[in-house]
Amino acid sequence: MRSKIVSILETSEGYISGERLSKELGITRSAVWKHIKELKENGYEIESVHGMGYRLKSAPDLLNAERITAGLGVSLVGRTVVTLKTVDSTNEEIKRLAREGAQEGLVVASEEQTAGKGRFGRLWSSGNDGGLYFSFLLKPELPPADLASITLAVGYAVCLAVRECTGLDARIKWPNDIIIGNKKLCGILTEMAAQSDRIDYVIPGIGINVNNREFPEHISSKATSIYMETGEMTDRSEFLRELLKKLDTVISGFLISLSIDDIEHFKTICATIGRTVSVIRSGQEIKGVARDITAAGELVIMTSEGHELIISSGEVTVQGIY
Ligand code: BTN
Repeated sequence: MRSKIVSILETSEGYISGERLSKELGITRSAVWKHIKELKENGYEIESVHGMGYRLKSAPDLLNAERITAGLGVSLVGRTVVTLKTVDSTNEEIKRLAREGAQEGLVVASEEQTAGKGRFGRLWSSGNDGGLYFSFLLKPELPPADLASITLAVGYAVCLAVRECTGLDARIKWPNDIIIGNKKLCGILTEMAAQSDRIDYVIPGIGINVNNREFPEHISSKATSIYMETGEMTDRSEFLRELLKKLDTVISGFLISLSIDDIEHFKTICATIGRTVSVIRSGQEIKGVARDITAAGELVIMTSEGHELIISSGEVTVQGIY
């Protein structure tokens, strides 16, 4: 009901009377007043003038499932979208829903996470701070090995959406961080439940710094946000809509061909290629120059000893990038 009131207020010019709202919504005027009070408590600035009615002055930047999905027209990712105020981790929430039989394509986004997870068991800082935290559910009928590069496809889609929506020179730090300059904008954690020969489900989880104005001290020199780069606030519901469209196209394509359709374009926006990198193999640090990405999405490194090394996963440190 409250989101209906917001959408009426958003589309009305000037004031709209309590009587008209109650008629349009089929509820009493005192129920309208109660909903307006709750909206104000949730950060909506609504002016009420005796004899004239209500007028929306400003709306908080809250994730709104109705606005995200209205006319979205996706075939897979984002067929259902759930928005939450708080959750431990959107990946964990999707896991719980998957066990209860949730459908492929479900997206869960949350204003904050109390136990946001990063790669390699790290924490992902996820306060109610303007970040965008969401995960989605895939149930491809494939053996686990076929999905090795799905995270690459997710990162590619996110990078394309950031470039299109913001005009920023977002690039991919292999395998799937999105960076601007030498700072991190987005991280992706893909989790999977599988038998030896078949996948039960895959959950890519995405954290993007959108309207964040500052970061905790330990990451402040390494992280950036769209707001910090552009000086402009982004409507996160609108942005998530664009992200879902891009993810839907790229992931649907990936699940058919099991590769990124436009790997040549991927390479042109991959910041790792041509840089000096180091990787840890069997406890030993190996240095080299990142030369290429294979069709399967692996990173090709030419070591300082002149050997070609092919890396399919793991952490790669890139000189000059956090
Ligand atoms: C990384 O370490 O770079 C990956 C970070 C992934 C964070 C996202 S936020 C949404 C989803 N839920 C989580 O708990 N983690 C991922």
